[in-house]
Amino acid sequence: MANSNTSLSKDHIKVVLLEGIHPSAEEVFRKDGYTNIFTASKSLPQQELRDVLADANFLGIRSRTQVTEELLAFAPKLSAIGCFCIGTNQVDLDATTAKGIPVFNAPFANTRSVAELVLAEIILLLRGVPAKSAAAHRGEWLKSAVNSFETRGKILGIVGYGHIGTQIGILAENLGMKVQFFDIEKQLSLGNARPADSYQQLLKTSDVVTFHVPETEQTQNMMDQEAFSHLKDGAILVNASRGTVVDIDALADALQSGKVNGAAIDVFPKEPKSNQEEFVSRLREFDNTILTPHIGGSTKEAQINIGIEVSEKLVKYSNNGSTLSSVNFPEVGLPELVGKHRICHIHHNEPGILAKINDVFSTTGVNISAQYLQTNASVGYVVTDIDQTSSQEAFEALKQIKGTIKSRILY
Ligand code: NAI
Repeated sequence: MANSNTSLSKDHIKVVLLEGIHPSAEEVFRKDGYTNIFTASKSLPQQELRDVLADANFLGIRSRTQVTEELLAFAPKLSAIGCFCIGTNQVDLDATTAKGIPVFNAPFANTRSVAELVLAEIILLLRGVPAKSAAAHRGEWLKSAVNSFETRGKILGIVGYGHIGTQIGILAENLGMKVQFFDIEKQLSLGNARPADSYQQLLKTSDVVTFHVPETEQTQNMMDQEAFSHLKDGAILVNASRGTVVDIDALADALQSGKVNGAAIDVFPKEPKSNQEEFVSRLREFDNTILTPHIGGSTKEAQINIGIEVSEKLVKYSNNGSTLSSVNFPEVGLPELVGKHRICHIHHNEPGILAKINDVFSTTGVNISAQYLQTNASVGYVVTDIDQTSSQEAFEALKQIKGTIKSRILY
């Protein structure tokens, strides 16, 4: 039997926010009239989690709560899940899709935080500050201007000119750097940035190279021994993207030989699983490196932004059915619902269902004022705005269509 919801009043909709999600999220729900909000500062033990999900309509988590197919069986009313973070690996996306539950996240809420850290590291490394500071901590006094540079006029090479890469380009230009970038996609140059002819050419001509690519087969060890051989002598290298992008042994060799004058690394091929585990890396022996524990995007501002961005997506889905930017669901962007009833129908992506849906509307004599449809490999999502008079009858008939996963009617 398909699972259905009618349009509940907002105080009957239960929102569960776990793992200390920033209060900005709760504020978004409350401002929109949602009052039944359960919050917890940590992830919950299994049984407690099942209990709290028994009547939950929306779930917000960070990275610790594992949403498995088994857990979903204990959450029969769940409409949507918000991952208040970047990744969504903690959620079984196939299982949520099959159950008609869209999953949202905040992939770009910490862009600025990464960009600022990278910029700061570039300034410090060009001045040789990390090595001088490390020496001072040991009682050594390295007062010297040798290998100490301003950023002004230096060439910054950005590999991966997406959300973060472009922000860094703009900030760096404001410091007087000349910006070039390499991206596999054609990207619009911002400010005076210009595309490099090739990756190799970027390596050869940049004083600083910084990586902002995703983790793919192509980016795996894209900064390897061969790539280092093309790098300008004495260049600075920064990686705050993914740990697989820079071959750490090749970097350590390049630091050892002086080919690279300094490096800032925020992400590693193997990272400790907790703050209690030791961080092991060949790079620890080099004073001229800034090593940070994957905190590029970790700021208070990013947490606030994530809280707002994800909760706004959940509220929008609850209020009007919009699935824009969902990670697992057909994306449908919808106008506000004014003066009509809206039926949101989620079904298995099988041939003929749309025809059956429209059959229902014609046999119930419902006047359709707008219809939106998107499908992905497994699921179809049809949203139909109709006149208010016979909406309930049509809604009941739609629920009976074979292949229906979930349907909702919004007033
Ligand atoms: P994005 O998707 O906006 O940009 C990535 C860019 O890289 C795209 O323009 C894409 O076309 C390009 N690209 C893909 N493959 C490439 C290749 N082989 N060569 C050159 N360019 C290539 O991503 P965004 O938001 O800018 O993030 C960049 C990276 O930063 C991601 O790996 C992300 O996981 C990481 N990140 C790290 C954080 C940290 O805490 N250190 C925080 C946030 C993001």
